[in-house]
Amino acid sequence: MTMHQMQIPIFSKLPKTGTTIFATMSQLAAQHQAINLSQGYPDFDCSPALIELVYKYMKDGHNQYAPLAGVPALREQIASKVNRAYDCAVNPETDITVTSGATQAIYTAITSMIRENDEVIVFEPSYDSYTPSILLNNGRPIYIRLEGPDFHIPWKAVKKVMTARTRMIIINTPHNPTGSVLSAEDMEELHHIVKDNNILLLFDEVYEHMVFDKGEHLSVLKYPALRDRSLVMYSFGKTFHNTGWKLGYCIAPAYLMKEFRKVHQYLIYCVNTPLQYALAAHLEDPSHYEGIADMYQQKRDLFLELIQKSRFKFVPTQGTYFQVLDYSAISTEKDIEFAKELTIKSKVASIPLSPFYSKKDNQHLLRFCFAKKDETLERAAQILCKL
Ligand SMILES: Cc1ncc(COP(=O)(O)O)c(C=O)c1O
Repeated sequence: MTMHQMQIPIFSKLPKTGTTIFATMSQLAAQHQAINLSQGYPDFDCSPALIELVYKYMKDGHNQYAPLAGVPALREQIASKVNRAYDCAVNPETDITVTSGATQAIYTAITSMIRENDEVIVFEPSYDSYTPSILLNNGRPIYIRLEGPDFHIPWKAVKKVMTARTRMIIINTPHNPTGSVLSAEDMEELHHIVKDNNILLLFDEVYEHMVFDKGEHLSVLKYPALRDRSLVMYSFGKTFHNTGWKLGYCIAPAYLMKEFRKVHQYLIYCVNTPLQYALAAHLEDPSHYEGIADMYQQKRDLFLELIQKSRFKFVPTQGTYFQVLDYSAISTEKDIEFAKELTIKSKVASIPLSPFYSKKDNQHLLRFCFAKKDETLERAAQILCKL
């Protein structure tokens, strides 16, 4: 006999949503002891000095609730980091809120800005938290496909889908899963499109420190005319190799941040106090994050060199720590089945691309995370070359 015999009828707010593909593939990788190049996190640890700082601040008694917007020392460090990187003056009092990762920041931004039937333009393939966040607020996602191999934004198509109800455009640069990055021309096109409309921008810049081949990350914070209508998301987890700490932040002008904080305070109120103090101290030295692109570019280059002779086809990723590989020369199977088989039989886990689309089509593409130790990449590549 089961404990629960009766079920009260409920109406799912997300009837089409199941477990995310990231959890599914990581679980499958663990179950079959496969090399896990699926979910986006490193297999190396974060700085031991940063961990020591957390312990120090715990011992020093920083163990109670932090202020709603975040520990002031951390907000000040964020403001000077942003000023240094993007030549942008941000007021730590009014324009920055520390969040439980970028995911919470995205949900909070959408919840505070999107009302019933508001339309939100989403580019596909897209990171999987955008659509459910829109739907939970009774907004309407309007999808635009990015086409390979370069996955650039088709601005004419954006113009075509814009209506009086368009309230927000979500932009992710560098882009997960494709690794494409916005160019100066893209920023110009975007400005042109929104300048005469009341459209907000949500910029997801969690991979800001991972742009390769001497490219530059063009943060929206560099563009005053766009910044005034933008909520911008960042993740310490991605930058400092500690995704499990779930710490990030949102930057927005005061008039938007005021509304963001109203939702934030009832969603979580504030985030982990000692981690915030530790990150504030760690951020004092910019060398802790300025070399990240070089480190990941070396890993990208190593991975691509190792699989050069495989039957996978690819265009080197321009940003993020993901590389998309085309397996059409190896199999005609659907991507989810092929990814599962690769995990179970060959013991390398990846992420199929179809779950990043609203219409689950099949393009024979898999995403591999190369934020891994060199030896992990070598072991994975040996297997991939045999396929
Ligand atoms: C594009 C993008 N945005 C946001 C996130 C979530 O960041 P966080 O772990 O800080 O919530 C991720 C994580 O994979 C991501 O790829």
